[in-house]
Amino acid sequence: MKKSINVAVIYYSMTGNNSQFARWAAESAREEGAGVRLLKIDDMRTPDEKNPAWVAEHERSRDVPAATSDDLVWADAIVFCYATRYGGLAAPMKSFIDQQGAVWSQGKLVDKVVTGITSAMNPHGGQEMALLNLYISMAHWGAIPAFPGYTHDAFSEAGGNPYGTSTTVGPGITPGDEAKAAIVQQVKRAIDIAARLKAGSADR
Ligand SMILES: Cc1cc2nc3c(=O)[nH]c(=O)nc-3n(C[C@H](O)[C@H](O)[C@H](O)COP(=O)(O)O)c2cc1C
Repeated sequence: MKKSINVAVIYYSMTGNNSQFARWAAESAREEGAGVRLLKIDDMRTPDEKNPAWVAEHERSRDVPAATSDDLVWADAIVFCYATRYGGLAAPMKSFIDQQGAVWSQGKLVDKVVTGITSAMNPHGGQEMALLNLYISMAHWGAIPAFPGYTHDAFSEAGGNPYGTSTTVGPGITPGDEAKAAIVQQVKRAIDIAARLKAGSADR
């Protein structure tokens, strides 16, 4: 059944953390046998040479296709990975969501299973709010959030954010194995919910 689940993993990343989370998420979805599209949201600005991490991430993601409305319509489950900015959703990701009026108004985003992943510099710098901000928009889509909750030990071991895996990264702190393990489980959970939803619709 999971083979027929399509997963769009969509990321916005300036300095590479969320790009890495998205790659882990896509790998997990592939291991589950899902159809997978790894997609980026382009930055609104050209990378600044004074920020080598930004330049490196731009290069790394050069060949990754940019997400489109068609990808959202194709997907049964959508994994959003993005940086926390000023306690909320990074603007390029929000802008992409704001551009979905046409498909949203036709009801084409209803029942999409959605789940969010983020990172921030500070443990109390707004990671939870950045994820909750995503789900506010998703409520308007009529989407189904796949919250990790505390359904697997991996979530507690990665910090216990019930809204989605969130990671504190910064100088000297890089995402570790706990973050990867939580992301793998979060994606499995989203696929499982999408598969059950799809099986239920087939029965109707
Ligand atoms: C404009 C801007 C705003 C940010 N706002 C926050 C914030 O509110 N809280 C926080 O802890 N970190 C904040 N950060 C840090 C990023 O969330 C953090 O570096 C994140 O891991 C970057 O992800 P990326 O490597 O995928 O781009 C901000 C960074 C930038 C550039």
